[in-house]
Amino acid sequence: MLNIQDIDKSFGSLQVIKNLSFEIKEGEFVAIIGPSGSGKSTLFQLIGGISALDKGAILLNSEDIQLKRGIIGYMPQQPCLLPWRTILENVTIVEELQHKPNILQARAWLEKVGLASFEDAYPNALSGGMQQRVSFIRAIVSDKPILCLDEPFSALDEFTRLEMQAWLLSIWEKHRKSILFVTHNIEEALFLADRIIVLTKRPATIKKEIIVPFDRPRSEDIRHTESFHALKQQLFNYLKEEKDDAYVD
Ligand SMILES: Nc1ncnc2c1ncn2[C@@H]1O[C@H](COP(=O)(O)OP(=O)(O)O)[C@@H](O)[C@H]1O
Ligand SMILES: [Mg+2]
Repeated sequence: MLNIQDIDKSFGSLQVIKNLSFEIKEGEFVAIIGPSGSGKSTLFQLIGGISALDKGAILLNSEDIQLKRGIIGYMPQQPCLLPWRTILENVTIVEELQHKPNILQARAWLEKVGLASFEDAYPNALSGGMQQRVSFIRAIVSDKPILCLDEPFSALDEFTRLEMQAWLLSIWEKHRKSILFVTHNIEEALFLADRIIVLTKRPATIKKEIIVPFDRPRSEDIRHTESFHALKQQLFNYLKEEKDDAYVD
């Protein structure tokens, strides 16, 4: 499905990504964790066609998507809703740009996520968690083969974040769209993903990859199991190694 093949990316003399390769299969939920500043958002800009690779290739179903925009669904860290458009108009904006807004589908999604009564409201009337839901719905109705989520819950308070994780999981378990999810939160990655890719510090390459063994559908209970804690510790150590080294150079 999505193939990242041996990519490099530098900004001037700063090498941000080096020899990075991985694959995401149809319907897979993959989380990427890595130190901050390691090149995670840069990776999304490359996949999203916003900036060019120095080396390597990015293939979606064998098609080269380098510098092609509008191919992937994208949910940024901040919800980025347009304050002058209603919630419904915010959800349909991507399709509107493609001249095929599907109002009925957008309404159905808003209803599914408990926001039906807000479709004519403006973003400033919604809480942070609600705005993230709208942002996610906007990414999902744009109907792309893969969704890239860049630390979408990091600006939320702890309680809302846990709520949003459970919410995302319940939606995804029904929908099964491929998701690439960047986070620096280890528990979040373990709770959500099928597989976790750990990046090194800059220049980012793959440090480790782990398969998350928990069955689906998942419940909050897995957070309290021994294997959850063991994996959390393991991932924490990988990240710590990257952080410790970071002060050497
Ligand atoms: N357009 C750019 N020009 C120059 N440097 C950039 C640009 N975008 C990102 N960087 C640098 O690349 C590094 C990785 O950034 P980023 O991908 O945002 O990291 P992360 O998302 O992992 O925190 C940072 O040092 C950042 O300053
Ligand atoms: Mg980032």
